[in-house]
Amino acid sequence: MKEKVLVIGAMGQVGTDLVNKLASIYGTSNVIASDIKSPQKSNTFFETMDVLDKNAIKDVFTRHKPTMVYHLAAMLSATAEKYPKKAWELNMQGQFNIFDACLDHQVDRLFWPSSIAVFGPNTPKILTPQNAYCDPTTIYGISKLAGEQYCNYYYKRYNLDVRSIRYPGLISWKAQAGGGTTDYAVEVFSEIIKTKSYSCFLKPDTMLPMMYMDDAIRATIEILEAPSVKIKERTSYNIAGFSFTPKQLFDEIALHEPAAEFDYQTDERQQIADSWPKSIDDKVARNDWSWHHQFSLSKMVSNMFENLTKP
Ligand code: SER
Repeated sequence: MKEKVLVIGAMGQVGTDLVNKLASIYGTSNVIASDIKSPQKSNTFFETMDVLDKNAIKDVFTRHKPTMVYHLAAMLSATAEKYPKKAWELNMQGQFNIFDACLDHQVDRLFWPSSIAVFGPNTPKILTPQNAYCDPTTIYGISKLAGEQYCNYYYKRYNLDVRSIRYPGLISWKAQAGGGTTDYAVEVFSEIIKTKSYSCFLKPDTMLPMMYMDDAIRATIEILEAPSVKIKERTSYNIAGFSFTPKQLFDEIALHEPAAEFDYQTDERQQIADSWPKSIDDKVARNDWSWHHQFSLSKMVSNMFENLTKP
């Protein structure tokens, strides 16, 4: 069957890379990008759509008849702490509206991202298992934990084939990160290339689970392409890339830019980072749908420099 793929939240950090990759797989004319803001230019069809506007959603689904949907629109951890009510509304009501539209329009498969933010201070911090205790302290984490259960509910009750992974911090060069706690690991590259110095908002020894965008996009596409029977976990899957501290990342960056200077001025994001795991055990995803990461810290840093300094 010919797929029609709709990406919601297409202008965010994940969406930007995902739309390009999907266009190369399914063909530009079979991918519809959408976001609340309009782009300067788009290679694919583009629809301006607010996930809180049910009429606009209905209109887009009716006109394009997507067979696959990636619903990425959400407010991330740090911004959500500034606007908790707005974040709850956007993350939850947005999810309800898109899930209902997928049911009403008989969408075959839906991807919805969760996050390491579902974990909290009482979660085991090293190699956090798939079914670890979750006590998120951020409104973002609470919305993702509720959202995971909502995925499971819609799968069991309505047979909506929704699949999900818990993204670690994502590092990419095409788009900036937007309002997360792991953003330092993205910002640092452009700052070092521009000014040769970077002031980090986390302490040097704050270890967090991270992943290069190439791996994250592959995981996102692979989980939706896997045969449905392989997806046994219907809340969300742990996936892991590598873990590092700011100091470890900056030491690696210094190998490429010896003049780079770093300092540390922590802010409220430190507390969020301290509540999250340091590393993730993803063996369930490895077993169920053959997930495996490819990028290491040093390969990621080389690749970032290569792409960001391309003439
Ligand atoms: N990168 C996200 C954040 O920092 C985690 O999902 O909010």
